[in-house]
Amino acid sequence: MQTAKLTLGEQTVELPTLEGTEKELAIDISALRAKTGYITLDQGYANTGSCKSEITFIDGERGILRYRGYDIEDLASQATFPEVCYLLIYDKLPAPQERENWRKQLTQHSLVHESMLNFFQHFPPTAHPMDVLSAMVAALPAFYPDENDIHLDIIRLIAKTKTLVAIAYKKSIGEPIVYPKSDYSYMANFLRMMFATPAEPYVFSKTLEDALNLLLIIHADHEQNCSTSTVRMVGSSHASVYASVSAGISALSGPLHGGANQEVLEMLEAIRKEGSATKKYIAKAKDKNDGFRLMGFGHRVYKNFDPRAKLLKKSCDAVLAELKIDDPLLNIAKELEEAALQDSYFVERKLFPNVDFYSGILYRALGIPTNMFTVMFALGRMPGWIAHWKEMRDNPQERIHRPRQLYVGSPQRPFLPLGERK
Ligand code: ACO
Repeated sequence: MQTAKLTLGEQTVELPTLEGTEKELAIDISALRAKTGYITLDQGYANTGSCKSEITFIDGERGILRYRGYDIEDLASQATFPEVCYLLIYDKLPAPQERENWRKQLTQHSLVHESMLNFFQHFPPTAHPMDVLSAMVAALPAFYPDENDIHLDIIRLIAKTKTLVAIAYKKSIGEPIVYPKSDYSYMANFLRMMFATPAEPYVFSKTLEDALNLLLIIHADHEQNCSTSTVRMVGSSHASVYASVSAGISALSGPLHGGANQEVLEMLEAIRKEGSATKKYIAKAKDKNDGFRLMGFGHRVYKNFDPRAKLLKKSCDAVLAELKIDDPLLNIAKELEEAALQDSYFVERKLFPNVDFYSGILYRALGIPTNMFTVMFALGRMPGWIAHWKEMRDNPQERIHRPRQLYVGSPQRPFLPLGERK
């Protein structure tokens, strides 16, 4: 590979370049400060590679998303979510026996320690289920002390998160919790724990199961996004996988990241209340003096289309047709999408509907309430976080993550005794 030459006044330094599997190019600047005294400044890390990774490939310009080399479209149409978990974490699609063992292990570890239910009793009813989930995942190692068995930790995280999510939901609506059943699959167990009641078993259709499978698969990983970078950052201090993933859940809760699908529905509801005021909201989004953004539009990486949004739109149509749902919010969503896609502001900035625009609509159709949307995202992202944590910890060259900064604060100043301060 050629080297990059950087000239700073009289000094010219040569920096090695690197090429990834898909011909992505990088300049290795790790020795820059030692050679020149300069750091690189890249607010929001928009142009900074924080690691080498073998897990997920994204080409934002061409709308490509692959997990471990497999196209998202193939995985979404042919794989189950637990298979995708295995693929992301262990870098192979499970062979029949591996798949069976994986299924059994995930089922066996679905129960959470009975004492953990005490925590759930004491969260106030107003607690956001995302805050509850983050706290409960952080609490898991207290109940399952370190046995130095990473595979067991991984199984526990994948198996128990769905139970924790379902308990958080049941508690938030004041219904008794439903325990997992050992002869049920991951998806069937989850749906049953969410929607069955002691009086009513939950009967779900294949279309709904497929839609949920799709939702979890398309959320399973997205390379170095905010929450995954958080997991890697926290894990780089050799914090446990539980602590690292819990931090990832907190990062995901922000409205600019995982919280966006909830915000989409809240925005649609606000538009409905104001009498389908689509035009007004488009104008607000374009007004630079107004902090409002069209939620569910735009993406840091995808600049032509989001392949996940494409898959979800199709599933959305299938679910809505089967359930014969006529939802005013869906009509507003369609109007908004059409208006934005024809508006030069959105076209010039390449602002297209992202995954969150449709996932909120689909969750709503599945009967999942708005405050659970981000929690569902966390459930799907769990294998991605774990895969990145594991990749980092398995790499002997990984160092603690510690970025630099450009200090622009006050120069040194003398300390003022209290009487001299104004
Ligand atoms: N509505 C209106 N204008 C927007 C929007 C939006 N949703 N998104 C970006 N823009 C505008 C910006 O104001 C900016 O305009 P300018 O060039 O005139 O200043 C331009 O488009 C570029 O936007 P940036 O903020 O630089 O884009 P960035 O890559 O930093 O942000 C983000 C990406 C956070 C997703 C942004 O598009 C956004 O806030 N969208 C709404 C929130 C959302 O849907 N988030 C979910 C993201 S997907 C996920 O996390 C799974």
